[in-house]
Amino acid sequence: MSLSRLTVQHVRNLQDVSLSPSSGLNLIVGANASGKTSLLEAIFLLGMGRSFRSINIRHVIAQGKDALTVFGTVDQKGRSINLGVEKHRERTRIRIAGEWVKSAASLAHHLPLQLITPDSHKLIEQGPRYRRQYMDWGVFHVEQSFYPNWRRFQRALKQRNAGLRRGLSTQAMQAWNQELISAVGVIDRLRRAYIGDLLPLAKQRIQELTDLEAVEISYQSGWKQGMEYAEYLAKSQEKDQEAGYTRYGAQRAELALRVEGMPAAERVSRGQQKLLASALRLAQIEHLRQSRGIRTVLLVDDLPAELDESRRGRFLEALRQLDTQVFVTATEASLISNREQWSDQKMFHVEHGSVAEMV
Ligand SMILES: Nc1ncnc2c1ncn2[C@@H]1O[C@H](COP(=O)(O)OP(=O)(O)OP(=O)(O)O)[C@@H](O)[C@H]1O
Ligand SMILES: [Mg+2]
Repeated sequence: MSLSRLTVQHVRNLQDVSLSPSSGLNLIVGANASGKTSLLEAIFLLGMGRSFRSINIRHVIAQGKDALTVFGTVDQKGRSINLGVEKHRERTRIRIAGEWVKSAASLAHHLPLQLITPDSHKLIEQGPRYRRQYMDWGVFHVEQSFYPNWRRFQRALKQRNAGLRRGLSTQAMQAWNQELISAVGVIDRLRRAYIGDLLPLAKQRIQELTDLEAVEISYQSGWKQGMEYAEYLAKSQEKDQEAGYTRYGAQRAELALRVEGMPAAERVSRGQQKLLASALRLAQIEHLRQSRGIRTVLLVDDLPAELDESRRGRFLEALRQLDTQVFVTATEASLISNREQWSDQKMFHVEHGSVAEMV
């Protein structure tokens, strides 16, 4: 997929912005505080129904306004689909191809997005939640059965936890245990298969982008290895009861990253973490394209930050070879050194919340 048209109203300092992006590179250039990240934030809102910068949408809506809106036309496999997101402080309205829809997950199906920001190292450095999100992005897009099972899992987990807190007997919880076991079984199988398929691509990208040797990536299901979840759950009922929640399961899954035998977070520098995280994301984009023929839109905020010239060059080249729609922000156009080599590219200049195409 690629965005062929974008209209943004009242997202931070962007008042009324319209552009027709290129299907290849879109270079967004402007001074600090001009509105570059806000433009990426608007695209993210269109694909995810939420911001990547603020949990509270009030901070994203332009000061003094009641609502923000983002409209976009997505071209996919020769068809065009209109997407719209309108966010008020208390409610969200989503429109896809003229129909109102309830769930933001439908947006993601029409506009698969990946994001690389100066915070990208968190994927490597911070807790397992970040890596679960990473993994699940891929499983969600590759396997249609993932999302309904994931919802089923969330519901069963919530119910079981409520039961544990109320001190219900094992027998009274039987139905929720069964539901949980079944959903966890599907999620675990899909995640495992996905990571298995992704690994060769990830290793290749890591080798190209980083100078790291001996990077190991392993999937951990979230409970004692080698044990069936049903058996594990039965054994841990008592301790779960004491804790008042389900201590292990798919909610504790991890994608463990080790470099030369040590946890990657301990072993590699900040710049390397960024490249490692970027390599992992590029591999997902490539995998989705190969497995399902789906193109991802990639948003890259402040790419040059913290990367030296040679690594930046390598990263830009990898972006170009991805052959997907990319939005890259930078304070200077010259930082994107391979711009002329893209077969399809446009440059936009952002100034005080206005965006103009440079010709
Ligand atoms: N809710 C809001 N309403 C209006 N303006 C806002 C709102 N939230 C943030 N801003 C302002 O929007 C402007 C653009 O911010 P943005 O983060 O997009 O800039 P940027 O071009 O990415 O800058 P940098 O190069 O420093 O990353 C800033 O001046 C910021 O203070
Ligand atoms: Mg910015």
